[in-house]
Amino acid sequence: MTSHEAAQATRISEALILEVEAADLLVIGTPMNNFTVPSVLKAWIDQILRMGRTMGVTPTGDKVGLLRDKPVYVGVASGGVFTGDRARQPDFPTPYLKAAFACVGLTSLHFLPLQATAFLQLEQLNENLHGLIAATPWP
Ligand SMILES: Cc1cc2nc3c(=O)[nH]c(=O)nc-3n(C[C@H](O)[C@H](O)[C@H](O)COP(=O)(O)O)c2cc1C
Repeated sequence: MTSHEAAQATRISEALILEVEAADLLVIGTPMNNFTVPSVLKAWIDQILRMGRTMGVTPTGDKVGLLRDKPVYVGVASGGVFTGDRARQPDFPTPYLKAAFACVGLTSLHFLPLQATAFLQLEQLNENLHGLIAATPWP
């Protein structure tokens, strides 16, 4: 990578971080792809988690978030079930997203998992979605 390309990459990261800083809250809608978040969401997160800008590190190696905390609402659509007693696959999205956002100081996460989209009828999914929205604390 040339120094020009490196500077350009940092500019993109900076623009995305400024968007996050300006927001009162974040709303993320994502599918579950192959047990975790899709690569495009991972790529966005990789631009937001920048050492020395959105996170620092203590002498003992702990990360310190540098962003002001704000609500983060995460809707996860999945073909199967990944939370609760009926889960048939591991839940990687939830702990990953919690850890990733926590290290920049965003700890007020609210998950709305809309599960079993491959099995349920649209009416049932709509009902489940309304249940998730009703159970979520909004500002
Ligand atoms: C490439 C790919 C990988 C997927 N991996 C999973 C998975 O690991 N677990 C799961 O429950 N559903 C998986 N699905 C199903 C999607 O999560 C499901 O279709 C979801 O409703 C996608 O959201 P959307 O309909 O808004 O695109 C996958 C779908 C695709 C296309």
